[in-house]
Amino acid sequence: FSSGVARDDDQVTIQGIPVTELVERFGSPLWVIDENDFRARARAYVDDFNTAFGSLCGGVDVYYASKALLTVQVASWIREEGLRIDTASGGEMALAMRAGIEPAHIGLHGNNKSDGELHTAITKRIGRIVVDSLAELHRVAHMAAKLETPANVMLRLTPGVDASTHHHIATAHEDQKFGLSITPAPDAQTSVAYQAAHIAAEASHINFVGLHSHIGSQIFDSQGFEAAATRMLEFIAVLADENIHIEELDIGGGYGIAYTEADDPAAPAVIANNLARHLSAETDRLNIPCPRISIEPGRSIAGPAGLTIYTVGTTKTVWVEHAGVHHPRRYVAVDGGMSDNPRPVLYDADYTAVLANRVSDAEPVLSRVVGKHCESGDIVVNTVYLPEDTDHGDLLVVPATGAYGHAMSSNYNMLTRPAIVAIKDGAAREIIRRETIDDLFAREVDL
Ligand code: LLP
Repeated sequence: FSSGVARDDDQVTIQGIPVTELVERFGSPLWVIDENDFRARARAYVDDFNTAFGSLCGGVDVYYASKALLTVQVASWIREEGLRIDTASGGEMALAMRAGIEPAHIGLHGNNKSDGELHTAITKRIGRIVVDSLAELHRVAHMAAKLETPANVMLRLTPGVDASTHHHIATAHEDQKFGLSITPAPDAQTSVAYQAAHIAAEASHINFVGLHSHIGSQIFDSQGFEAAATRMLEFIAVLADENIHIEELDIGGGYGIAYTEADDPAAPAVIANNLARHLSAETDRLNIPCPRISIEPGRSIAGPAGLTIYTVGTTKTVWVEHAGVHHPRRYVAVDGGMSDNPRPVLYDADYTAVLANRVSDAEPVLSRVVGKHCESGDIVVNTVYLPEDTDHGDLLVVPATGAYGHAMSSNYNMLTRPAIVAIKDGAAREIIRRETIDDLFAREVDL
């Protein structure tokens, strides 16, 4: 739960506002963001990493990975808290600029950027285009020369480490779509990363700003980051011998959060300290200067600051067999589901839920919270013990839904998406309004 969540005598409150009041004012289901908590997490990354690295490698720039949760107001919070922003499409880039983030503080990612996206990134002079392949590097060099505008380029490399996370969100191993490999192909003398670094260093209209690696997402400790950093620094040392000096190393995002009590991620400050010590030792060993560091946290800023409020509709109990023993399982259906949070169905992600509108002393029973979509995989919380009397009209709160919920939401089954309410200093306001049935028709061409 975000820092502002508490349970008063009879219900869950967020910064003192009862969930029933939020639902009365803004409807259900509802995404709620504790703005103070979001801002504090954002600021903590800036402070913790700068404190840890300050004396060892210099300052750290924090780029919020906007894919986790992006609205114009969220981007403004990021700007106000002193972070920069990482975008992964023309849409995210446009929104960041709309929120007043200066182009120099924007990064653009993507394994398949369009000509239009590259054109915008170059002409707006965004701070870094994170180039993902040799083919893209050639396109950027060509376009920048033609526009007679230098392109700020960072190269995304594949450090070849296996991060322990779900395979859909691991990105540093070789056999996936992202990045330039540091390992030479069996039929080649040099790696594509090596070739790209030479091209970037020599191209007339490329300002080569540094190297990038991202090992994956929902990672709980610093070991994977350290292994990746070592590979990156060894590569930087090779380039240094050839007089190509890398000034900045981005070590990506991916810091994990607790979705349930079973999750135990290291605190950002711990990861920052471990990484700073590791980078300092490794740069000494390799006899290279410590590059300026940047990071790209998304989930760990937005995720814990958010929660979803649902209203219970129907319930039923089935009998299931486990290891020869039959026991009841209660299905509790709510008014949202995979359209407002596809993570359980995509990644088998675990969440938890609590009865939020009242206190019950009924016995907790094995329950599964499901949505209202036409799929049996439409699960909100797979396994949770809810009071036996949880029923129609009750409110459930699912914590830690701030990241990759709204961002990956859909209108599946023509559901209208919930509003996002931000709560700051005890006051709640909509930052994204609830969708209407008319919104669902907005793109019909023959109405
Ligand atoms: N930087 C790069 C280059 C990335 O690809 C990502 C995430 C991040 C930073 C931020 O990672 P974070 O700090 O949020 O873990 N939809 C999935 C997560 C996909 C992450 C994709 N890239 C989920 O809901 O778990």
